[in-house]
Amino acid sequence: MNAQTADPVRILAEPLAIGPVTVPNRLFLAPMSGVSDRPFRALALRFGAGLVVSEMTVGEKLAKGDEVARMKAESAGGGPHVIQLAGREARWMAEGARAAADAGADIIDINMGCPAKKVTGGYSGSALMRDVDRALTLIEATVGATPLPVTLKMRLGWDGATVNAPELARRAEQAGVRMITVHGRTRCQFYSGAADWDAIRAVKEAVSVPVIANGDVTKVDDLARIVAKSGADGVMIGRGAYGRPWLPGLAARFAAGETSRPPTGDALVDLAREHHEATVAHYGLAVGIRAARKHLAWYMDQAAGPMAMRHAILTETRPAAISGMLTAYFGVAPERRAA
Ligand SMILES: Cc1cc2nc3c(=O)[nH]c(=O)nc-3n(C[C@H](O)[C@H](O)[C@H](O)COP(=O)(O)O)c2cc1C
Repeated sequence: MNAQTADPVRILAEPLAIGPVTVPNRLFLAPMSGVSDRPFRALALRFGAGLVVSEMTVGEKLAKGDEVARMKAESAGGGPHVIQLAGREARWMAEGARAAADAGADIIDINMGCPAKKVTGGYSGSALMRDVDRALTLIEATVGATPLPVTLKMRLGWDGATVNAPELARRAEQAGVRMITVHGRTRCQFYSGAADWDAIRAVKEAVSVPVIANGDVTKVDDLARIVAKSGADGVMIGRGAYGRPWLPGLAARFAAGETSRPPTGDALVDLAREHHEATVAHYGLAVGIRAARKHLAWYMDQAAGPMAMRHAILTETRPAAISGMLTAYFGVAPERRAA
């Protein structure tokens, strides 16, 4: 990895082995419930993301054949399939892992980062960071359930007084985890303040499996700093990809020293339209129209179109009408370009 000495960002353009699975670059799309569904992951992969992760699925629900869990665990094709599992009982993590394998997973990711009370109240997600012994029982059960590589996503700790990500990472590695992603915030921070990229370095130094840094990366200019501060082997992008499924792939090309531009003009309209149609096809009309609205809003944020037109698009329920209105919206709107 001598490229690292020349330009710290170059490392992100290199392949990465996650156990037996090798991904083409180190710019990943984060798991985001309600956002990183199959259509969104498919677009991110097509634009060149090195890896995409499913929305969190509860192991017990997946194992019991719950339809919503099954849909969340669908492969987007075009790259390794990562299914993220959450849970609080070893038995259901194991059952969930076997169900994920049956659903075609190439990698199983365990969620120990979700701060939502609904999840932590159930003693899963980031709440598991409060009890590392218990967290380990879930990790061991997952690793033991299938031959698939298991990865772990965590925060820095529960709160500022208990930053135990390095300890959890070390023990997870001993239990067989093949990659660790760290969101540089504690659970109690939720999404406030800035992600602490420096603090991720202690995890990198604690383990020899790849460490992926996550939190607040929204533009290619962030890459050099997050890599330099964290020393991480890769970068995961979440909210920065809202309405910009191209961002991880574009960042990978930037890391490779290539120039690459985000879609603009007709290409952006076509992308918004394609994303909308794919979402409606995925969920069916009633659910799909609602699920697609946030994505349409994020696409429209990138153009200063008339508010009345935006409102009309976000309340329209006929896909064909939405398609035509999007063309009109972007046609009259000067684009707001992010770097
Ligand atoms: C709407 C939303 C849903 C999320 N859902 C999940 C999830 O299902 N699993 C998970 O591990 N993290 C989840 N996260 C956390 C993200 O994966 C990521 O760690 C966090 O947003 C920080 O990265 P960012 O600043 O690049 O967005 C979610 C975040 C958001 C904003």
